[in-house]
Order: sequence, then C-alpha cells, then structure tokens
Amino acid sequence: MIKRDNKALVKEMTLEEKASLCSGADFWHTKAVERLQIPAVMVSDGPHGLRKQDDKGDHLGINDSIKAVCFPTACATACSFDRELLTEMGAAIGEECQAEDVSVILGPAVNIKRSPLCGRNFEYFSEDPYLAGQIAKAHIQGVQSRHVGTSIKHFAANNQEYRRMSCSSEISQQALREIYLAAFETPVKEAKPKTVMCSYNQINGVFASEDPWLLDEVLRKEWGYEGYVMSDWGAVNDRVNGIKAGLELEMPSSGGQNDEKIVQAVKDGVLKEEVLDEAVCRILNVIYDYVDHKEDAVFDMERDHKLSAKVEEESAVLLKNDEILPLKKETKAAFIGLFAKKPRFQGGGSSHINSFKIADALSEGEKIASITYAQGYDIKEDVVDEKLEAEAVEAAKAAEVAVLFVGLPDLFESEGYDRSHMRMPQCQNHLIEAVCKVQPNTIVVLHNGSPVEMPWAGDVKGILEMYLGGQAVGEAAVNLLYGKANPSGHLAETIPFHLEDNPSYLNFPGDGKTVKYQEGIFVGYRYYGKKNMPVRYPFGYGLSYTTYAYSNLKLDKTRMKDTDTLTVTVDVENTGAMAGKAVVQLYVSDQTGYSNRPVRELKNFEKVALQPGEKKTVTMTLNKRSFAGYLEEISDWYVPSGSFAVQIAAHANEVLLEEKIVLESTTEIPFTVHRNTTIGELLRNPKTAPAVKEQMQKTMEVIGGEGASNEAITEEMNLQMMDSMPLRAMRSFNGITNEQVDEMVAGLNQMLQS
Ligand code: BGC
Repeated sequence: MIKRDNKALVKEMTLEEKASLCSGADFWHTKAVERLQIPAVMVSDGPHGLRKQDDKGDHLGINDSIKAVCFPTACATACSFDRELLTEMGAAIGEECQAEDVSVILGPAVNIKRSPLCGRNFEYFSEDPYLAGQIAKAHIQGVQSRHVGTSIKHFAANNQEYRRMSCSSEISQQALREIYLAAFETPVKEAKPKTVMCSYNQINGVFASEDPWLLDEVLRKEWGYEGYVMSDWGAVNDRVNGIKAGLELEMPSSGGQNDEKIVQAVKDGVLKEEVLDEAVCRILNVIYDYVDHKEDAVFDMERDHKLSAKVEEESAVLLKNDEILPLKKETKAAFIGLFAKKPRFQGGGSSHINSFKIADALSEGEKIASITYAQGYDIKEDVVDEKLEAEAVEAAKAAEVAVLFVGLPDLFESEGYDRSHMRMPQCQNHLIEAVCKVQPNTIVVLHNGSPVEMPWAGDVKGILEMYLGGQAVGEAAVNLLYGKANPSGHLAETIPFHLEDNPSYLNFPGDGKTVKYQEGIFVGYRYYGKKNMPVRYPFGYGLSYTTYAYSNLKLDKTRMKDTDTLTVTVDVENTGAMAGKAVVQLYVSDQTGYSNRPVRELKNFEKVALQPGEKKTVTMTLNKRSFAGYLEEISDWYVPSGSFAVQIAAHANEVLLEEKIVLESTTEIPFTVHRNTTIGELLRNPKTAPAVKEQMQKTMEVIGGEGASNEAITEEMNLQMMDSMPLRAMRSFNGITNEQVDEMVAGLNQMLQS
C-alpha cells in the first residue's frame, strides 16, 4: 500500500494547477495533473444504481448511460426500516462502481419530504430525520465498504423543485437543526461520506454553495467532516465566496473560467492560498483513497437483479388486506393495467438508470399461475379510453380476483418540477371504480414515488404500495401477492387524505424568491399527530400476512441524567402462521411541558425476522439526542428536566406499550434579569423564586380586595395573570418608581450570581 503525503504533493503544485483541481474536467471527471501524475477520476449518479455516461453527459437523464441495475428508489427502501439490507444494497452498488471505475456515486439523497408534491420525493427517504439518517448511514457504509465514495445530497433544505436553483428556504434554526439538518448529521458523523453535495438553493438568503455557516461552522467544525464538498451540477453562484466558505469542488466543468477567478483571488490577496491548499488536499485525499484501493471487481448484473427484487420485497408496504391476500395460485386472476406489463419503477432525471432488464408482474405471474391481462388505461394522455376500460371490466368480471396495477406516469413526477396535485390520473381512478362495480375482489398495486389520494380505498379489498420499486418490481409484486414473500415494509411518510391536510400546504412552494417553512418542526406525522388529524395511513404503518405481539417493555432505569444512555428492551413474538419480519418502532414523547413538542417522535427501530411462534427480545438504546430539542436561546440541544414516555408503537398513531423515565438536565440555561423579565420566569428559577414570592405576597395584600371583587378575581387567577407580567409593569400597578424597578433587577441578578 502506497504511503501518500498529499500535503507535500500540494506544495509541489503551481497555483494554476491547484485552482484547476477545484472544478471538473467535464461532466463527470475531476481534472488530472499529468506533470505530477495526479489522475482524473470519475463520479456518476446515483443513488439507486449506476448511471455511468460516456462523453455525451447531462444531468437530467436525457442521454443514455451504460446498462446497469436499477434498485428500488429511496422512497421504497426507507420503508424497509432495515439497516442491514441497505448496507447490502450499498455494497453491491459499490462493487458495480469498482467494476466500472467510478470513484464516487452521487447519493444518497436525504432531503426531508416536506410536501407530497416535491417532484423528487421518490429519491428521498422520509419525512422523519431519524429514519432518513439511519437508512442513509447504512447505505453509505455499504458503498464505502468497497472504497467507493458517496456524495450525500442535497445539503441542505432543498425540499422542492420549483425554482430549486435560486429560491431561498426560510427556516428557523430549530427546524433546520431538528428536521432538515438532522437527516444529514448522523450519516456525516457516523458513516463519513467521502463527499457532500451542496444544494442549489439558498438558506435564509445565502446560497448553500457559499454559506460559511453551513459548510464550515456546522459541517466541518461541529460535525467534524473531513471529506470534500462538491457543488450540485451548476450550483455555484460566486466561486471565490464558495471556496472561502468550504466548497472544494465545482461540478461540472467551469470551462476554466472559475479556475482563473480562484487564481486571481489568490494573487489579489482576496483568497488565502492556505485555504486553496487545504481544499486541494481534501480533494486529493478522496481521489487517492479510491485509486489506492482499486479492485478488480465484476459487475454481476444477474446477481444484483436478484438483490433488487429482494430489497423491494422487504420494502413494499401492504396498506389494506380484507382477507384477500395472499392469493392462491389456483385463483383465476385478471392482471389489469399497463403497469402490469410495463411497470413504472424509477423516476425521471439524473437518477435514471438504463436497466439491463425489467421484470414485469405479468410475465412473472404467468410463470406460476394462469392469468388474464387487460391494459385498462393508457399513459400518453389522461383520458378514459372506453375500449381499454371495457376490456378491463370484462376481464375482471370473468376472473375471481382483479389485480389493478396503477400509479403515477412519468410526467406526473420528476426531478426538475413539482407535482401540482396529489391525485392519480383520473382515467386510472375511473378504471378502478369501474372494475370495483363488477368485481368485489379487487386489489390495487401502486407504482408511485410519492403519496396519492385514494378515493377508492374503501371499495377495494387490498392495497399494496410498491412505490418506485426498481427493475425487479414485477417479480417482487408477484412474490408478495402470492405469499412467497411476506410484506414487511412500513410507511416512511404519512399518506394524508387530501393534499390540503399537509402542514406545508399554505406555504408550498412559495413565491419563487422565498419559501417559508412556517410549520417549523411540525413536519409529517409531527403535525398530523399534534392536530389529532385523521390520515389515510399514518407514518410507520404496514400490514403483514402474520401477526406480532409485543410485551415486556423494560427500561434499565427510571431516572437518569441527560448525559446517560437508556437501554430499552421489548419482546416481540410472531403469533401467526407465517414467517415474517416485524418492525419494532420506538418513540419518545416529551411530557415535561417545557416547550411545544410533537406528540411523539421516532428515536429508534429494529427489524426482526421471526418464524411462526418465535419470540425474540429486542434491545435498543436512547441517548441525549433522543430526548432533546434544539433550543435557539442557547444554540444547542437541550433536554428539559421532567418526565418522558418511551413508547413501542405499531405506527405513529398507535402506542402498544409505554414506560416512563424522568430526565435530569445537566445544562443550565443562562438567565439574566432585565426590566422585561416576567414574574413567571422569576418564579420558575429556584434562585429568584423566594424573593419574588415574598414581593408578590406583599402585592396581594395591597391589592387583595374583599367581597365581590375577591370573588371576581381569585388569588389563583391573580397568580396566573401575574405570570406574564414584566417587572417594569410593577411601576404602573404596584406604585413603585422606575429606580426601584432597576434596584430590583440588580438585586435579582446578584441572587443569580450567588
Ligand atoms: C442533481 C443531482 C445530480 C447531478 C448530476 C443535478 O441536477 O440535482 O442530484 O447528482 O445533477 O447529475
């Protein structure tokens, strides 16, 4: 193994050579420096398979790429709630990259699903940052185990496609930290992606590609990031500001223009050469990490196709089953819908894979059962084709069960633009209704990257959500429908009844210049739960062909400091007749009343394989971050002292078991008294409370009337009113002077020092 000294190598480079390394050679390569034998390396999309293009590069999936394997997209894989599975899939992709000489694969994409309308939700994992972060971490660890880099993207707060290259996401620090950055934080700290891709958008008025707070303070200083940051394709606004803030690599090529700007900035003294040196060194570290670990790998497409099917089987979510599934092979089934023959299994744009083969449900089903087929609808335009629909109705009538393969056509969702509504094509909804009229045994199999409204949900007996399930989606669907595989996916996002229910509804996608994240931390189930709002299917929901029983929830302590770790154990038993995998979901509910918190939040999970009758004890841990919120007042994570519930839940809306734990905060919040400090604040602080109580007693004696007035305002009411009263108001109501108020302020501050 070669021992490299990249710092020394940087010293040998000319200013021009160094600047040249800070932008791409073309669409997909870094630059070589031949004089010093620094090689060019290739990066490629990503994330759910390899999209390696030749010289006709583009970032929108327009030109072809090499034949490869399309794995299920992120919207599906997050539903697996299975870290090991994602690591296995990541490792396979890493091996493909080694075989194809790709040094970095551009993904995973971990942006939070703020609205069901975001055109790119299919590439994103979840509305929940814990789940998104855990799944991303597992994926990165898998890819990087083969010494291929990842590029976690799009950092940060890129939650819509509308004006994605310029719009400013206006977000509070609390929501940024708890929701939008949190999805990046765990993977960055624990899986150490070789590269981070900054997003196109601005955050609170500063482009992500030149934001020193984002790229330096948070990413490098707080999270200890050591890889390099690359721009999303064309995200650079001001190159010199970018490199100063911590953007090492501009992609794609700047045609040399920005390299010159960097050179000039150093010559003019605007950019310190040390900053450039450090940037180049970081890029070299990642290049050589790949080059020095180059493997003779093989891209075994058939093997990876099989893995793609397995991943999808573990990810698809059974949403409804009125004793209709699994199907028996002898049952006369009609497969209806174009997607049975030509499935939609991936989204449009830069992640588009050129699949070497596609397994459709019809061909797969025909291998094991006798199936009739009718196309039912077309996707070229959204109009009811009466002939196709009539054929489908006939096929449904003649069968014992109708399985409808429906969902969103490509045009309905893609990178580059958002959806304008949450509906399926009306011709497909019409078809489902027509089939339900003649066939009571109807099952819907969905192919979509983001939730759809389901007006027919009450009329059908089964709903299987495949999401965009990769090139083997048809194989997975048949295995699930016929019970060769047992569904074990759980929703990584809420499916609301209507788009209007979504918390971002009034503020999505903004006015083009800005988009206000008014809902704060109340994203997805954090909002629906708080509002106690009925939803079609809640976050974490998913059915199985077997049943599970949970018991014996135990915490290893009943009280702890916020710096301690809590160990949680729970038993889960397969009480049905089929082997399956249970998803044990652990939520924390803040019951301290300290601040306005969601009803509960996912803080750990485990997927457990169980044979019929088998019981296992699952152990999970919780730490400070599991209980903390981000407190802007101290710019830090904070756990208030008090009681929290630790809950095992079937999904975000159904708690199965609960135990309480009392947390003791080790953080003292700095408190300084001023003229507008309220009586309530002073009463809640143990150091100032006694003096304030005494003063209030006196006040009560002075103002406490008798008879009728005493009944109108009781002492308790008085106390509540006083809670929000600032000290300065005592001048108006207690007859004291301004000077006396100032003296009180000084006195109370002294008490705080003691
Ligand atoms: C996308 C990225 C992608 C890049 C390269 C951009 O348009 O936002 O996710 O990796 O193109 O194709």
